[in-house]
Amino acid sequence: MRWSPLPPVAPSTDLIDGMTTMVANCDPASLKGVAVHIYRANTDMDRRVFVDADGELLFIPQRGAVELVTELGRMLVSPGEIALVPRGVRFRALLPDGEACGYVAENHGALFRLPELGPIGSNGLANARDLETPQAWFEDNDGACEVVQKFLGSLWTVTLDHSPLDVVAWHGNLVPWKYDLARFNAIGTVSFDHPDPSIFTVLTSPSETPGRANCDFVVFPPRWMVAEDTFRPPWFHRNIMSEAMGLIAGAYDAKAEGFEPGGLSLHNMMSAHGPDLDSWKAATAAELKPHKIDGALAFMVESCWPFVPTEQALATAQPDYDGAWSSFPKARLP
Ligand SMILES: [Fe+2]
Repeated sequence: MRWSPLPPVAPSTDLIDGMTTMVANCDPASLKGVAVHIYRANTDMDRRVFVDADGELLFIPQRGAVELVTELGRMLVSPGEIALVPRGVRFRALLPDGEACGYVAENHGALFRLPELGPIGSNGLANARDLETPQAWFEDNDGACEVVQKFLGSLWTVTLDHSPLDVVAWHGNLVPWKYDLARFNAIGTVSFDHPDPSIFTVLTSPSETPGRANCDFVVFPPRWMVAEDTFRPPWFHRNIMSEAMGLIAGAYDAKAEGFEPGGLSLHNMMSAHGPDLDSWKAATAAELKPHKIDGALAFMVESCWPFVPTEQALATAQPDYDGAWSSFPKARLP
């Protein structure tokens, strides 16, 4: 399934009102699974905070910055960066550019962490030194403040007589953070063939089965393609992981059209997928000299649990995504 960018929202829509759940899996009460939401907002959250008891929230801005004002400080997150608000941390979102849209991965399972690097060694991919913590800050505002809490898939509200973002000092081991995806040290082949896309894992939420994540957050960043004797776009494949994919900027190298920044695609477990016809033709004819994929930033939220699209998502899906593979010629051996 695939989705074009969702249409703009009505004026005075804040980030919480402008959040649409697209795909999800597992019951949050089981403490596993992940959901992917798309937000579109054009007004600050004012006298209103949000808290998610169901999971940690990974923000993936696509257009417009978001300033996350949390109980533990504030941080500005721009497209090309990601930010994590831990489960249970209250926050509100300001829009310094006046409007913003992007994605949120809501992880109900084990906390996102940097992946084990195995033979890569001590350094590479996302390095811990590049995770930035919020600037210390609090507010002392009396007056009504609505708290919206997500709990077991439903939203609940209570109105306090003050802002709860009044924490002056704290200690603990859960903290919001942000990360600039431009700092991701992409690793790929320098000989032939493709490593699995797991080589692009920024964060992982393990399941109880090693090697089969509850959720991996994976990016396809600007990088050099140098493989010899190799069809360089992602090949046609079926696999156990269910893949929800978004595009932050540019054009993804396996899709010539239909997958725009702000859009979303879903390939659930064992659904065959790969490049569309035009991408396949271009890659088949291309001279295999070093080539830089530049200006594009795609990501994947992949999970060992199959995703279920929501009613809203089913109502807005592109009608014939399968058509991307409808007119491939039959290959002939030389
Ligand atoms: Fe895939």
